[in-house]
Amino acid sequence: MTDNSRLRIAIQKSGRLCEGSMDLLKAIGVKLSIRDRLLIAHATNLPIDLLRVRDDDIPGLVMDGVVDLGFIGENELEEKMLERQALGKQHQFQTLERMEFGGCRLSIAVPNEFDYQGAQSLAGKKVATTYPYLLERYFKEQNINAKAVMLNGSVEVAPRAGLADAICDLVSTGATLEANGLEEKEVIFRSKAVLIQRAGDMPDAKQKLIDKLLTRINGVMQAKE
Ligand code: PRP
Ligand code: ZN
Ligand code: MG
Repeated sequence: MTDNSRLRIAIQKSGRLCEGSMDLLKAIGVKLSIRDRLLIAHATNLPIDLLRVRDDDIPGLVMDGVVDLGFIGENELEEKMLERQALGKQHQFQTLERMEFGGCRLSIAVPNEFDYQGAQSLAGKKVATTYPYLLERYFKEQNINAKAVMLNGSVEVAPRAGLADAICDLVSTGATLEANGLEEKEVIFRSKAVLIQRAGDMPDAKQKLIDKLLTRINGVMQAKE
């Protein structure tokens, strides 16, 4: 069912980037016959296939050259880049465009009752996060001797569960922090969605199509200014 001559674009199947990515594709004239829960959706008017996957998988799919393009949050992209760097794995890609959607920040938050006097208060503490590489880079830069504890989900309940003293997680409205008795203290990374392209040779026809899509994306973004 996969045809190499078609441009493959990875997008998040559900979550903060999903709606923005789908809206943009629609705005630039990519017509889809998307049926729910389908991993691959074929465009009906252009040689494009959409792969709807978990956002965490998108940087790797692009860096391994499995897909041609991907819409991904800079937070996830930077984390995977650091991880691959550390593991000595291929981590090349090209950023084509920074989008106006998917905005969020990666922040350190502590329980309301935590006596927080600045980042050094984290010394000797455990901080739960899904982004250990970004967090550890921050600790290093700030010269803080703290420990990142990796959790793939439910990060916000880690302090209450006694798994960590603080958390480092994505914040957009702040509702999740508030609902869990946590206070945002340090913003360590600001993120938006970006469109990335795999490294390496691109067949002419595909590159032309990418250029055409980019021109349209720029048109849509300018119209919104
Ligand atoms: C992030 C984060 C919080 C929530 C914060 O989760 O982990 O749960 O968003 O948003 P808020 O400040 O608007 O409340 P995400 O939606 O990325 O899903 P995930 O935790 O399942 O990855
Ligand atoms: Zn995710
Ligand atoms: Mg969450």
